[in-house]
Amino acid sequence: MSDPTVIQPGHYGHYPAIMTQAALDTMTRQAREDPDGFWLQQAGRVQWHERPTRGFEGSFEGNVSIAWFADGLLNVSASCLDRHLADRAGQVALIAHREGHGEAERLTYAMLHERVCRLANALTALGVKKGQRVAINLPMISEAVVAMLACARIGAVHVVLFGGFSADGIAERLVDSGAVAVITASVAWRGTKRVPFKETMDTALSRAGAASAVRAVLVVRTADDAVPMLPGRDRDYHDFVDRCDADFAPVIMKAEDPLFMLYTSGSTGKPKAVVHACGGYIVWAAYTMDMVYTHRPGDVLWCTADVAWITGHSSVVYGPLANGGTTMISDSLPAYPHPGRWWDLVDEYRVTMLFSAPTAVRAMMADGDDVVNRHDLGSLRLLGIAGEPISPDAWLWYHDVVGRKRCPVADTWWQTETGGIVLGPVPGVQPLKPGSATRPLPGIEMAIADAQGRILHGAAEGSLCIARSWPGQARTIWGDHARFCQTYFSKVPGFYFTGDGARRDSDGYYWITGRMDDVINIAGHRLGTAEVEDVLGDDHRILESAAVGVPHPVKGEGLVVFIMPRGDNAAGLTGEGVARLISQRLGRYAAPEAVYIVPDLPRTRSGKIVRRLLRKIASGETGNLGDLSALTDTAVVGMICNRVWGEM
Ligand code: WT7
Repeated sequence: MSDPTVIQPGHYGHYPAIMTQAALDTMTRQAREDPDGFWLQQAGRVQWHERPTRGFEGSFEGNVSIAWFADGLLNVSASCLDRHLADRAGQVALIAHREGHGEAERLTYAMLHERVCRLANALTALGVKKGQRVAINLPMISEAVVAMLACARIGAVHVVLFGGFSADGIAERLVDSGAVAVITASVAWRGTKRVPFKETMDTALSRAGAASAVRAVLVVRTADDAVPMLPGRDRDYHDFVDRCDADFAPVIMKAEDPLFMLYTSGSTGKPKAVVHACGGYIVWAAYTMDMVYTHRPGDVLWCTADVAWITGHSSVVYGPLANGGTTMISDSLPAYPHPGRWWDLVDEYRVTMLFSAPTAVRAMMADGDDVVNRHDLGSLRLLGIAGEPISPDAWLWYHDVVGRKRCPVADTWWQTETGGIVLGPVPGVQPLKPGSATRPLPGIEMAIADAQGRILHGAAEGSLCIARSWPGQARTIWGDHARFCQTYFSKVPGFYFTGDGARRDSDGYYWITGRMDDVINIAGHRLGTAEVEDVLGDDHRILESAAVGVPHPVKGEGLVVFIMPRGDNAAGLTGEGVARLISQRLGRYAAPEAVYIVPDLPRTRSGKIVRRLLRKIASGETGNLGDLSALTDTAVVGMICNRVWGEM
C-alpha cells in the first residue's frame, strides 16, 4: 500500500477547533482509566431530572445485558427543548425547507416546544401511553421532528419507518413493533415522483389486519387532493393537534426506559428493531455531535439523511437539538429540478456544516465541477459523510471542489446499533487521511479480530469489534434478545461484533473494507440478502435464489439476483417479474440491477450456495474465481458465466 495523503490540522488555519490535541489525549486517557467517571461527567451534557450516580452495569458475556446511568431520571424532549428556553427561546431550532413551497418554515425553540407539547397532548388524548410504540412514516417535513420529540415527551417509543418501504414492509414492522398509533402524511414528492404515503399505509394496515394494534392514524395533509379517511381511525393531523393545549409536562423516564426502536437489516431473516434507551442514547448523541460537529451560535447543520435512519435520529434531530443548535431538513433531491440543487440550498440557507452520504457525493461528482463552481459555498466550514466506504478520490473531490480545501471532511463510521458516531475525527485537531474514517472517539475501545476471534494488535486487518460498552449502544433487539446476543456478541466472545471488516494502520487510523456478512449497502441503505431470498422463496415458481451485492459506481453496491426456477412449474417467470416482486415486497430501494434465471447454482458438498462465487461472476471478476474444488459441480460455474456474460 502506498503512503496515503495526510492532511495536517494546520492546513485549516482558521478552523475553530474544539480542543487541543493534548486535551483530546487527556480525555482519551481518562476514558480508558476511569470509564464510569468519564461517562458520568459526560452525562452532564444533558438535562437530568435526577442526575445519575451509576455508570455502566452489565456484561457482553452470556445473556448480554447493558445498562447506563441506571439511577438517572430524565425526559429527552425536555433536554432538547425546555432546557434551551431560558437562553435561546428565540433561536431557530429547525429550518424545514420544502421544494416548491417558497419560504422555508423556521421554528424557534419556543415554537418547536409548543408544537411538540400540542402533539404530546393529542397523542395522550388518543390514548397513547408511556412505553407504547408509535409508528412515524413521514417525508422530511417539520412534523417528522415534532413527532419524534412528542413521543419522547410522553414516554412513547417511536418507530420511524422509511418512506421507501413497501406496504408489506410497513405491515410487517407495524405488527412486529405492536405500534398503537401511526403518524403519516397524505403524499410526498420526490422530484416529479408522487409518493403515496397514506395509500401505502392504508394497504399496510389492511394487510396487517387484526395482527396490528394500530387504533389511530394522524395524517398530515401535504397536498390539496382529497385523502380517504377511515372514520374512527384516521384524523387530520393539524385539525386535531393544533387545537390541543400548548403545554405538556414531560413524563419523567428512567435512563434505561426505551426511547425509540429502529428497524435495520441483518445477515439472517427478517429486519429487526434495535432498541435504544433514553439516557445513554441522548448523552451519546450530544457527545458525538459536539466532538465532531461542535454547534456554535449561527451554525446551520444540514444533514441530508432521512429521519428514518439512525443518522436522521442522531444527526438531524437529537444531537443538534440536545446541543442547542440549528438543524435543517429538506425534501429536495441533489439534482432536481437541476444538478446542483443542494448547492443552491447551501447558499440560500447559509449552511455551515453539511453532512451527507458517499453515494450523494459520487452522484454530484458525476455532474461535474462546473455545477459546484457556480456556487459561493462560502458559508461552509465542515463537511461530513457517513454510511458507506468512500474512496480517496471521492473524498478529495468533496474536500477540494465542494469544500475548496478550506473545510475538513469528517468521515464518520457508525451503525444503527451504535446510536451515534464511533469512528470520526475531531476536526481541526486530528490529521485527516482521505478514505479513512480516522480514529475512535474517546471512550471507544476499538479492536480488530482475526477469523478465529483472536484480537490483533498494532497495524492489522480483520473484523471490527468494540471491546467495551458505550452509552449509545443498542440494548436489545425488540422481542428477540437471543438474536441480539447471537448476532453481536457470539462471534468474538466478550466483544461487540460490528459485522464490518477494517484495516488499522500504524497510526491507529481505521480503513473500513465493508461488511463481512451477507448485508449489502445500496446507496447507504442496508439490505440483508436473506431478506431478498425470503421474499423470493414465497414465489412457488422459484426453487431457490441467491442475492449478492456487486460494486456500483454511484450506489456503492447494487443488488444482483440469481434465480433457479422450479423445472416443472416456472411458466411466466421473468427477470422483470422478479425485480417487480422485490420492489413491491421490500421497497423501491431494493430494486435489483440484474436478475439472472439460471438452471442451477454453485454449491459446496454440504449444499451451501457459494455466494462469493456468484458475487465475482456478477461483478465481472470471471478471470479470478479462485479454487473451485469444493464445489459439487464445477460445470455450473461456466454455465452461469455464459448466462451473465455471454459465451466465453
Ligand atoms: C453500516 C451501518 C453511519 C450510520 C448510518 C448507517 C456502513 C457506516 C461508514 C463509513 C464505511 C460505513 C458499515 C456499517 N458504514 N459508516 N464511514 N465508512 N462504511 O447505519 O444503516 O446501520 O449501516 O454502514 O458497513 O456497518 P446503518
